[in-house]
Amino acid sequence: MTRVRHILGIDIGGTGLKAAVIDTKGKLVSKRVRTPTPRHCPPKIMVKTLAKLVAPLPAYDHIAIGFPGVVRDGHVLTAPNLGTKDWAGFALARALSKALKAPARMINDADMQGLAVVRGRGIELVVTLGTGIGTALFDHGKLAPHMELAHHPLHSNKTYDEYLGDHELKKIGRNKWSKRVLKTIGILHTLLNYDHLYLGGGNAKKLTGKLPARTTRVSNTAGVEGGAALWRMRTFY
Ligand code: BGC
Repeated sequence: MTRVRHILGIDIGGTGLKAAVIDTKGKLVSKRVRTPTPRHCPPKIMVKTLAKLVAPLPAYDHIAIGFPGVVRDGHVLTAPNLGTKDWAGFALARALSKALKAPARMINDADMQGLAVVRGRGIELVVTLGTGIGTALFDHGKLAPHMELAHHPLHSNKTYDEYLGDHELKKIGRNKWSKRVLKTIGILHTLLNYDHLYLGGGNAKKLTGKLPARTTRVSNTAGVEGGAALWRMRTFY
């Protein structure tokens, strides 16, 4: 296996596709590029759009992909915001590896964000606020098996995605939405008793009011920065 030096980090979102080249510590060594996610984005269009997006970036030898759904072994199992019907079973890591000519690893997008921000102390939870709601749980820095908390019914049978996702923020406004986020944080704390919470994703900056104790807002670039830690992992889902 070639030595990992420069990694192309790709953060696939329901609204935007982001990418940058990072070093082995996760530091950006290129600008971060972004393009809107095409409205209908089955695998073929995704691969084409990503290839075009990353073409101007400097050289890399490995690829790390954060995907907004359940992934296993380089394959997509679910893609709630892109269309599971189009995506289920697709070997995206292999397709991107072929198109972009470097070995590729892929995990859930919230898991990848988390790899960049956790400090390795106690139970740490990462929640990403975007088109959908992502969650990742860490035990002393070790990533737990991915749980789709966002698809757990939370309020009047609404999932986290339906209660807190971007479409709701746009519908009810920042203040009401922020109250919902705070209520959800309370529920997550009761459920998981985490020691620290990191709030990421494009909408984290839209939260109004004071953040609860033991909560840190993190930058959205973490979505690509986590690719460095992904390539250090011995095993992953
Ligand atoms: C998906 C998660 C993903 C999150 C953020 C949710 O709809 O179920 O897997 O992490 O969106 O993209």
